[in-house]
Amino acid sequence: MAASGKENVMDEKDDPGAAPYGNFINYYTFNPPENRINLIPTTLIQDLGYGKDSSETILMLDVGCNSGDLTVALYRHLQQRAQSEDPTKPPHTDLHLMGFDLDQSLILRAQQNNPFPQNISFIPLDITEDSSLQTQLQVYLGQHGCPRFHLTMCLAVTMWVHLNHGDSALLRLLSRLASLSHHLLLEAQPWKCYRSAARRLRKLGRTDFDHFKTLAIRGDVAEHAREHLEKHCGMELMQCFGSTTWDRRLLLFRRTEITD
Ligand SMILES: C[S@@+](CC[C@H](N)C(=O)[O-])C[C@H]1O[C@@H](n2cnc3c(N)ncnc32)[C@H](O)[C@@H]1O
Repeated sequence: MAASGKENVMDEKDDPGAAPYGNFINYYTFNPPENRINLIPTTLIQDLGYGKDSSETILMLDVGCNSGDLTVALYRHLQQRAQSEDPTKPPHTDLHLMGFDLDQSLILRAQQNNPFPQNISFIPLDITEDSSLQTQLQVYLGQHGCPRFHLTMCLAVTMWVHLNHGDSALLRLLSRLASLSHHLLLEAQPWKCYRSAARRLRKLGRTDFDHFKTLAIRGDVAEHAREHLEKHCGMELMQCFGSTTWDRRLLLFRRTEITD
């Protein structure tokens, strides 16, 4: 069940206790897709060296996609580039996105409002659950004949996994994202968001997040994430797309290991 609330700012009327995973029902009313989309070049796919041949299948994964608004907006954003190159050509039609979220009611909404069901799929899935995750993503990759996603997005999700499952789960999440992807676009919430989320929970008289007080990874969480991805996951930071209006950086990583 999804709940209303705000992730970044403190507001006593909001109820993060009912959205302990950041599964806000109205997320895009207070963080519209444009806040992030405007930082991402429409040429991103081409800049990464993909899509030169319009028949090439490009696969993208959106981890923790909420109700799918950002997923759909990004699909439109990237297709816009394909059309603007040569308006007589059809858009790059072989771009496929899969969005998943642990909240089934949000996924149902995403499915019902999906304007591009041929190219965008939404499924309920928990990134922390190994076996079902592996199976469903491998099936999807296999259907498209790709060993990995060309680009994975993990935006505003790390804090919720971290608070609910602890340090080791955050590192496992990053390792998993790296193993699934050639490129990774990561927006890690800064530590001040953790404090706000925990404070809001306390104000509501709820028990704290399971791991908040004992987390060893704190401070510059994005820097910790970069270090883990570079030291342990065979990835390197390529680029930073600046900061969102919420003062969060969008970090783009690529695999440094030679892969299939
Ligand atoms: C703050 S929202 C961000 C939504 C979207 N990624 C964006 O940036 O617009 C966080 C989302 O992550 C989802 N989420 C949290 N933990 C998750 C997990 N373990 N597996 C899958 N989704 C998760 C929540 O349900 C929620 O929809």
